[in-house]
Amino acid sequence: MVQARKLGLIMLGVAAVVLACAIRYAWEPSIEPLLAPVSAGADKALLARGAQVAEVGDCMYCHTANRGEPFAGGMPLNTPFGVIYSTNITPDPNTGIGRWPLDAFTRALREGVSRDGHLLYPAFPYPHFTKMSDSDIAALYAYLMSLAPVSAPAHPNDLRFPLNFRPLVAGWNLLYLKTGELQPPDRPESVAWLRGRYLVEGAGHCASCHTPMNALGAEKSGEAFAGNLIDSWNAPPLNALTRAPKPWTQAQLVDYLRTGLASEHGAAAGPMLPVTQHLGNAPESDVEAIATYLMSLRPPPAPVQPALSHEEASATDDASARVIRTGGALFASSCAGCHASGAPMREIGGRPALGLSSVFTSDDPRNAIHLVLQGIPWNGSGTAHYMPPFADVLSDEQIADILAYVRTRYAQRPAWKDVSRTTATIRKEISQP
Ligand code: HEC
Ligand code: HEC
Ligand code: HEC
Repeated sequence: MVQARKLGLIMLGVAAVVLACAIRYAWEPSIEPLLAPVSAGADKALLARGAQVAEVGDCMYCHTANRGEPFAGGMPLNTPFGVIYSTNITPDPNTGIGRWPLDAFTRALREGVSRDGHLLYPAFPYPHFTKMSDSDIAALYAYLMSLAPVSAPAHPNDLRFPLNFRPLVAGWNLLYLKTGELQPPDRPESVAWLRGRYLVEGAGHCASCHTPMNALGAEKSGEAFAGNLIDSWNAPPLNALTRAPKPWTQAQLVDYLRTGLASEHGAAAGPMLPVTQHLGNAPESDVEAIATYLMSLRPPPAPVQPALSHEEASATDDASARVIRTGGALFASSCAGCHASGAPMREIGGRPALGLSSVFTSDDPRNAIHLVLQGIPWNGSGTAHYMPPFADVLSDEQIADILAYVRTRYAQRPAWKDVSRTTATIRKEISQP
């Protein structure tokens, strides 16, 4: 009884402290707006550097609505808690950040606080941007201020209660936000490695898609780069690239990140496609540094996997033989024109062989299903790689049959289970706005 009461008192005390902290941090002071928008600086080198930081940070991608003006906001981000819309970061004085002084901009990137003091949602990757250097933030600021101002008021968010109450983010920040620049590593590392880590962990915010998340949408500690489900795509682990069945080389990784294509590994699609398009505009040395850092990542020691049972290993029974026959026929009519070994298109631009593609060697069929349903959009650039969508052409069962065929014949692995059901689920997921 006494114990219980003591515990109750302790809990009450903890609750009071948490509440006090939350109240203290829930509203940050407003930073006075400038009287007039900052005039665009004339320092060309600074603006060019800011533009490059923006490429690595994907600022334009997230801050541009479908067919909207660049950087004027309005792109919807689906989160487990509802839809959040990015805001206008052009220098418009009223609806954008034109009257934000540099320290307000720095505080937004470092602490996730808007100029007027309201807290921003961590769908804006400030938990990574906080690691950027002051000089990169200043260059980015100068670059954004040099853009044409666009008047575009913020689109209201569509978040579920209680998350539509912004002050709650204070609790999240207390738990998960570590502000400030990266600490030096505990062993000596090359200049390229340090630069790569800075870009990956900071502006590049790669972990925001490639690290598993907890129930509150924060990256799980101790599982950095172990892979994650994002926008119904599978963002593969990045901590074992050198241990893949066909290990990545540094040169393949650089090609993939700069052009979206790597011989022996595949093409970037879905949420990774814009990342590679932006990295294609970043300095090559920066992308090489990113690859150097990724190649050094190692997964934590994993429990030993039990070997496949005899039945599992010899699962090619009559039923699956039939599936592979129908799948083979469908593949011949729908896909082989571009993907069969020897197809004329196979020769263009070092096209990866399907069987080697990470999409088919993965344990998870999601990305293969996405690719068949949605194809790869034509983007008109020099590195474009187009594949037509098959959502309206093939049924869930037909897609399952084709994938069973490619998985067993090309990738030499057992067919995935439940593909037609997963296809039906993904169809629903992508039909949502
Ligand atoms: C993953 C998508 C994403 C990326 C990448 C991103 N942002 Fe944002 N950003 C958002 C969202 C969403 C918001 C709005 C958050 C809110 O309203 O709580 C936002 C808000 C902001 C704000 C606050 C604006 C205001 O009026 O309060 C600034 C400043 C900003 N972003 C700058 C940047 C810069 C600079 C970059 C590139 C380094 C960038 N963002 C990259 C999604 C993104
Ligand atoms: C918006 C989410 C998102 C962000 C941000 C992101 N990725 Fe990805 N990434 C993905 C998805 C999804 C895939 C799978 C794409 C596919 O299969 O075509 C992927 C694939 C990859 C692959 C291929 C891995 C393999 O085994 O095939 C590499 C390498 C990679 N990403 C590196 C990066 C790096 C480096 C960054 C940061 C600069 C980054 N990603 C940022 C979502 C993201
Ligand atoms: C008009 C030509 C064309 C057709 C038809 C086509 N594809 Fe593709 N496919 C491409 C291109 C182009 C790419 C991008 C990679 C590249 O450039 O090699 C691609 C990429 C893929 C990938 C990603 C592989 C990787 O490199 O990561 C998969 C999976 C895939 N296709 C499956 C299929 C399947 C299954 C079919 C039949 C249902 C099909 N494709 C039909 C042109 C085509």
